[in-house]
Amino acid sequence: MTIIDGKKTSVDIKKEISEETAKFVGQGIRAPHLVAILVGHDGGSETYVSAKMNACKECGFKSSLIRFEADLKEEELTDCIRSLNNDETVDGFIVQLPLPKHIDTQKVLDLVDPDKDVDGFHPVNLGRLMVGLPCFAPATPAGILELLKRYDIETKGKRCVILGRSNIVGKPLAVMMMQKNNPGDSTVTVCHSGTENLADISREADILVAAIGVPGFVKGDMVKEGATVIDVGTTRVKDDTKKSGFRLCGDVSFDEVAPKCSHITPVPGGVGPMTIVSLLSNTLKAYKTRFNLH
Ligand code: GUN
Repeated sequence: MTIIDGKKTSVDIKKEISEETAKFVGQGIRAPHLVAILVGHDGGSETYVSAKMNACKECGFKSSLIRFEADLKEEELTDCIRSLNNDETVDGFIVQLPLPKHIDTQKVLDLVDPDKDVDGFHPVNLGRLMVGLPCFAPATPAGILELLKRYDIETKGKRCVILGRSNIVGKPLAVMMMQKNNPGDSTVTVCHSGTENLADISREADILVAAIGVPGFVKGDMVKEGATVIDVGTTRVKDDTKKSGFRLCGDVSFDEVAPKCSHITPVPGGVGPMTIVSLLSNTLKAYKTRFNLH
């Protein structure tokens, strides 16, 4: 059984991104610039955004954080997006989700210029992804494919079962895994809260991806011997032994599932760090397009 080390892989990729960035900056071009918009003070979002900003620094990117209080008016947010769309010094920007309930999230995401949509959440990018055209792919699915590629995991013709149908992970990942590509070319099934006999389906998976946000949901008897298991869960569970007061818990019961697997991602240190580097890769891609670099 091999533990897929997302942390180490992300360090390798950050080095590659840093080197490419340094080359362009050495030619006198300004550094890539990523902006994050953070609304409110949700603990998880604070942590993720700060990790994204730190990763930018590590790779020689400029990063900016725009903060709003949770009671902001939708118009303030849409004005901010319009201004970032028109700002030549910004290559890409993200609106950290979730947004407060009184904000129409889809309306906000629809306003982002698709050429700066480094999260890959705009319908234009998702539509292009669907038909296999160049686009910004959402960061978490892109990070998962990068792990499958770097660990030489065969996907062609394999049965891939995805637990979860979110717009951010499950749906785009299903499209990417079925695309005639490597990684890809899999036979994909998406399970969700309405699925009957879910365990029977998950047991058929050569590649099982858990992205439902229920800690420890995938048990040993739901996994086929020799499967690759990818855990996207990052639920915060109270833990007084930790300095932060919580620990991150995946969707997979690691101790009982791991012995059955050929490969498995841990939580933390699996998919999470890869999501961040995929965002940086997308930002570098937006930057290279802007300056016509190769
Ligand atoms: N919330 C959870 N995951 C993500 C992500 O990848 N991007 C943004 N913007 N918000 C998120």
